[in-house]
Amino acid sequence: MQSHRIGVIPGDGIGPEVTTVAQSVLEAVAPRHGLSLDYEAFDWSCRRYVETGAMMPDDAIAVLGGFDAILLGAVGWPGVPDHVSLWGLLIPIRRAFRQFANIRPARAFPGVASPVRGGDRLDLVVVRENVEGEYSEIGGRLNRGFPDEMAVQESVFTRVGVTRIVRHAFELAQQRRGRLTSATKSNGIVHTMPFWDEVVREVAGEYPDVEWDQLHIDALAAAVVLDPARFDVVVGSNLFGDILSDLTAAVAGSLGLAPSANLDPTGEFPSMFEPVHGSAPDIAGKGMANPVAAIWSAAMMLEHLGHPGASAQVLRAAEASLADPTTRTPDLGGTASTEEAGAAVIAALGDDRR
Ligand SMILES: NC(=O)c1ccc[n+]([C@@H]2O[C@H](COP(=O)([O-])OP(=O)(O)OC[C@H]3O[C@@H](n4cnc5c(N)ncnc54)[C@H](O)[C@@H]3O)[C@@H](O)[C@H]2O)c1
Repeated sequence: MQSHRIGVIPGDGIGPEVTTVAQSVLEAVAPRHGLSLDYEAFDWSCRRYVETGAMMPDDAIAVLGGFDAILLGAVGWPGVPDHVSLWGLLIPIRRAFRQFANIRPARAFPGVASPVRGGDRLDLVVVRENVEGEYSEIGGRLNRGFPDEMAVQESVFTRVGVTRIVRHAFELAQQRRGRLTSATKSNGIVHTMPFWDEVVREVAGEYPDVEWDQLHIDALAAAVVLDPARFDVVVGSNLFGDILSDLTAAVAGSLGLAPSANLDPTGEFPSMFEPVHGSAPDIAGKGMANPVAAIWSAAMMLEHLGHPGASAQVLRAAEASLADPTTRTPDLGGTASTEEAGAAVIAALGDDRR
């Protein structure tokens, strides 16, 4: 029996609700593949921030460094500014563990209606640069409270950072349908984006078998809505990838369907798996959150840990459960609770050990 140690951060709002369900799916699938998963859960969250003044303890990174992977729900809660919750937990983890590749697949599921025409043929992966770009710590504010108050935030694009994420995306495209689109804005953003484009062009030369193009982010957003099936792998900066992946999730039918992996592809540090969605305070505590994004994120974790068969089994079960309208959550027009939707995925696991 192979075992892995998983650090779990359920977080806030619907985070704990969907994480509990994802863990129960993992518990159901693991023994069928000779796996034992040992979890340790941490109460790091906005609640902790309110009580102690910190989202997580000083030694959090050292503690998490001892795990094989991290499973996260979501953080954020009204009353705690969103930049405090994000920069107090999520972003430090991504950076300390050099999780530079944020992989965000989106696909249509049979029977789940897309709000856009052709959305039923959506099957793409957004590869988001995860540790630099527009999400930079460089900047500041001056003259607070005066009429000449100002704020400056620098975008940071390094040759190393852009090259490695673009290579990662090309390699993924090679394993998929061999198509890559780069999200740019080099008409308006005159320094960083032409640099991004240059690096993409250079790296593309290493992958002659991948057909690639680039689109300005505004045109790309329109094209995702007008012709969703056109895209295979889309690579973008931290901000563009973040926005695009909410858009592609919506085209798939719900934010509750979108998973993500924050990968350190070198394997030096633990990678982190979390739904794309946030803590959804508007539906928290009502038992109506869609757990599929968290379940699919857990499946991505299984694949990362070297168990593609178990991962695929979870995804097939999620697909089967979504095909049944009675086990869909309200975001997909159903009436199932989070728990019932999770139970349907477990039931659909069947005895399939492929
Ligand atoms: N990775 C993270 O932890 C993360 C990501 C995004 C936002 N947030 C935080 O979450 C909080 C809320 O942010 P927001 O409202 O912008 O985004 P959100 O993703 O939490 O919610 C947006 C909308 O989608 C719905 N939704 C989200 N997940 C769903 C699910 N699983 N099932 C059904 N419906 C779902 C919500 O009900 C809401 O109407 C903020 O504090 C924000 O900073 C955290």
